[in-house]
Amino acid sequence: MITADAAGTWTLGDHSVNRMGFGSMRLTPNPDRTVAVRVLRRAVELGVNHIDTAAFYVSPGGILDRGAGPARYATELIREALSPYAPGLFIATKVGPGILPSGEFETADTPARLRAQVEENLRRLGVDRLDLVNLRLTRREGSVAVRFAALAAMREEGLIRHLGISNATLEQVDEAATIAPVACVQNSFALDLRRDADMPAALASRGIAFVPFFAIAGPNREDGAGSAVDGVVARVAATHGVTPHQVRLAWTLHQGDNVLAIPGTGDERHLEQNIAAGAIRLSDQEVKELAQPARAPRSSAPHRDAEPGRSGAEQGGDLSGQFGAGLDLGLADGDAFDVEAERHAQAGAERPQVAGDGQALAAGRLEWVG
Ligand SMILES: NC(=O)c1ccc[n+]([C@@H]2O[C@H](COP(=O)([O-])OP(=O)(O)OC[C@H]3O[C@@H](n4cnc5c(N)ncnc54)[C@H](OP(=O)(O)O)[C@@H]3O)[C@@H](O)[C@H]2O)c1
Repeated sequence: MITADAAGTWTLGDHSVNRMGFGSMRLTPNPDRTVAVRVLRRAVELGVNHIDTAAFYVSPGGILDRGAGPARYATELIREALSPYAPGLFIATKVGPGILPSGEFETADTPARLRAQVEENLRRLGVDRLDLVNLRLTRREGSVAVRFAALAAMREEGLIRHLGISNATLEQVDEAATIAPVACVQNSFALDLRRDADMPAALASRGIAFVPFFAIAGPNREDGAGSAVDGVVARVAATHGVTPHQVRLAWTLHQGDNVLAIPGTGDERHLEQNIAAGAIRLSDQEVKELAQPARAPRSSAPHRDAEPGRSGAEQGGDLSGQFGAGLDLGLADGDAFDVEAERHAQAGAERPQVAGDGQALAAGRLEWVG
């Protein structure tokens, strides 16, 4: 069985982690919490030592707006499955978006609210100090100084070991770095979500890790992996005898030594496939071909890039205006995404897509849909 070290390692802050990690956002929809516990334990068994989470990853409701039954927090599932934590395990979380005790969603923009969210993460994970906290922005513009300084103060206090920033521009990263060391940047990025194509190299030159999310889901974002697969991805997958999802992960890891993957899944078989993707070695030609603009395989479901506290009409889209599934994105992110998806759709109009089960695609049984 291929293990997470096949992807190589990166020193995050002062801690060596395997570049193939795990994102915990997809663990909560399943009402059977024993499945999530099993997936988490299997991840660690297979060498995963970098897990991404957030206190607002919860079902029912929460960021994915899914699930039924009693509340399941990803942070608490991690605690249930993995504590007492092994010394080598590194758990990154994020603050900014949050859920108030009343159940309402918030965007923390004061030091006091950020502190409350840090404390919630400490409590739910059952630790005295958080390994890494990302400041998750909902706007890719404006100063981050007050919020990052608040987190830096909590770091000085010993509540946090390392800081990162999420959904940020390079300017915001550089501003944050004047306040405290930035260990990582977590932005959406995939072979068909390339707004931040320059980030891996720009961050590498600064010694900062780039931790992209939506590497598999791509433009489908919170809606998850769709069935439509770009034709070039399917061809490369067939060449390597792997699934298209594994190719997407492999391409991500090929963007630089400082790029760390955090694929999210609630499925043990998918977890094993994702970890195995760390062993795929793409040729330079394949990396180049995969990077050509593709038609974005968006699902038909409307995306929900709602900004908390603003109505759908105010945000200029078909948005619910509730925090719901949209909080993790932010208006500015969503706007840029739409422009990008449209550009790709036009640029890659002649490039075919296929639909079908990943294994079937890898085996060459392709159903062309475009
Ligand atoms: N900083 C931020 O703002 C932010 C935002 C979003 C996410 N994140 C973090 O980034 C992580 C990754 O993002 P993500 O989970 O949204 O998206 P992702 O990793 O790109 O893709 C997850 C989707 O792909 C499916 N999937 C995973 N492995 C698969 C496989 N081998 N074969 C087929 N389908 C597969 C999952 O469904 P199954 O569950 O059925 O496998 C799910 O639908 C999250 O879990 C979260 O920790 C951070």
